[in-house]
Amino acid sequence: MRLTRSGASFKGLCPFHNEKSPSFYVTPSKHFFHCFGCGASGDVISFLMRLEGRSFPEAARQLAERGGIELPEEDTQDAQEQRRVRQRRERLGSLMGAATDFYVRMLTEHDLGGMAQAELDKRGVTPEVARHFKLGYAPHSWDALATHLAREGWSLAEAEEVGLVVPRRTRDGHYDRFRHRLMFPIADVHGTIIAFSGRLLATPPGEKEPAEGEAGAKYVNSPESPLYKKGETLFGLHEGRVAIRRQGVGLLCEGNFDLVMLHQAGFENAVAPMGTALTLAQAKLLRRFAERVVCVFDGDNAGRKAVRAAFPVFREAGVSAKVVTLPKGEDPDTFLRNRGAEAFRALLDNAPGMVEHLIEDAAETAGADPHARAAAVESLGPLLGAIQNEVERSLYVERVAQRFAIGDVGMVRRSLRQGFLAARAAGGPGRTQAARAAPEERSAALPGRSREGAGSPEAAPTPARHAPQRKPPPLEGELVGALIDQPTLFETDLAKSLEELLTSPDLRAIVAAARESTRRGEIDAAAMLAAVGHHPFRLWLEERLSLEKYDGDSARRVLTDGLPSLKLAGLRRELDDVKQQVLQARRRGDDDGAEALQRRVDELHAAIFATQGAKK
Ligand code: UTP
Ligand code: MN
Repeated sequence: MRLTRSGASFKGLCPFHNEKSPSFYVTPSKHFFHCFGCGASGDVISFLMRLEGRSFPEAARQLAERGGIELPEEDTQDAQEQRRVRQRRERLGSLMGAATDFYVRMLTEHDLGGMAQAELDKRGVTPEVARHFKLGYAPHSWDALATHLAREGWSLAEAEEVGLVVPRRTRDGHYDRFRHRLMFPIADVHGTIIAFSGRLLATPPGEKEPAEGEAGAKYVNSPESPLYKKGETLFGLHEGRVAIRRQGVGLLCEGNFDLVMLHQAGFENAVAPMGTALTLAQAKLLRRFAERVVCVFDGDNAGRKAVRAAFPVFREAGVSAKVVTLPKGEDPDTFLRNRGAEAFRALLDNAPGMVEHLIEDAAETAGADPHARAAAVESLGPLLGAIQNEVERSLYVERVAQRFAIGDVGMVRRSLRQGFLAARAAGGPGRTQAARAAPEERSAALPGRSREGAGSPEAAPTPARHAPQRKPPPLEGELVGALIDQPTLFETDLAKSLEELLTSPDLRAIVAAARESTRRGEIDAAAMLAAVGHHPFRLWLEERLSLEKYDGDSARRVLTDGLPSLKLAGLRRELDDVKQQVLQARRRGDDDGAEALQRRVDELHAAIFATQGAKK
């Protein structure tokens, strides 16, 4: 980050939002920074906390160390233990730093370092970028690193702990884990090297080619250690953190070279998980820097699977995800080399949301075969089931109906639900926190629950989350809902009674629309929504249409049980009303009128009594 003097302050590009001209000011005399663009401001500690997601004590300690200040430490046992853990981590981090320096040096100094350099040249990695990522060469030797570290006074036991060396089996001593490999150091978000990923290189000249299947893995990675937890690490996050925060979006790719090449092409917001399927911890880590992500996956089957697997993870982390699919056989590294950064930028700009992408992908894969299409719709069930917001879910249900050209949205909904339940029964994919309950169970068990913070991914900005939603009177809404779930009930007296008892004209309009749009016992939800148009309970209705809360029997029961209550409420309201009128008539001296009204009061008492009896 570069700052230039401007009066009593310094100014530069804000690290917290995306801008082209500087509006970020640091005023040393006030120990204060402020961005006129995004409003970020604070002192040096809050700067560090924001930039690297450090806690207050961590940020304070980092500063103190930089300034050579000793912070007073508590001397409780807890504090001592914490200090020991921290000091050990710091020592291991320095050790990894020493190994990194060694590998970087070997790139130019070792006889065979040129082979690693040749790989970099072949890929077009510039010297600046190689330096930036501290790419190196692990020598073609059993113990070059071990010997070097020992000579420098590092503990080989600790080098073993972080996976740099491996104990010999036959005698004392250690040998190097990484031999003759191109080395990618992996930093944590603060920039401490915590692991390495070493790429296979060609066999050195004069050596026998390994037999087939014995060449070793394409990449060897550090094992987990006190520093390194694979599932909690994102390669490139340290290097990309400012770009990610500025742009508000991360770029998730799969490979080490992809990451480096993306950075080099100007996509500095790229990160890569360490050769694993995306974990929730990684998604949450990313979420500290950006709420949005674009996933770049290979266009092969593995890439497809990876997108599907990543979807519920992003959902749960509250990250909104889009998807770029590369042509078959390409990864970002080759794509950038073959077609350039502009073409890649175009892919990013046109990336569809993840759900859209998955719907599209399922439809495309299924083709025209009816059986495959039916199966494809079901297969989307678990994905849509992971969407908590009911309005959003129902919008996607409509999208599925559209894409698969199925006129009957209710049928699509049932099929999706079928797929959801089947996957759940099989303990299948998508069983994350968010997807654990069936859609309607969730809404029943967790009324009104919504995600905190940024909310759910790529939801169209529906008013539902902001404007207070208008809802029908609870009991009436419940009964109308049961009728919508089971429109065959329109043929019974239950529906007729309900229509008579409804107090809300808006609900009566909904029932009328439902009746209109029912064909052969099924509601055409799209037609029904079109019929009600702008309606005060429109959102309520969309939600209600997206879940089938009651099956045939329970819908009938709900209505049978609920109608008397509704009737009672109506009778009581009328009773109050008529009693008022009796009083007024008496005051006026209209005794005849009062008499007539009093008879109505008696009737109402009798009716209430009868209805209460029927209820029991
Ligand atoms: P890929 O096999 O897609 O390779 O692995 P790549 O990144 O395109 O490899 P290059 O371009 O030939 O170098 C994707 C990522 O999976 C991890 C690595 O992080 C790799 O970048 N991986 C792959 C491993 O950890 N071990 C392996 O043996 C292979
Ligand atoms: Mn590649």
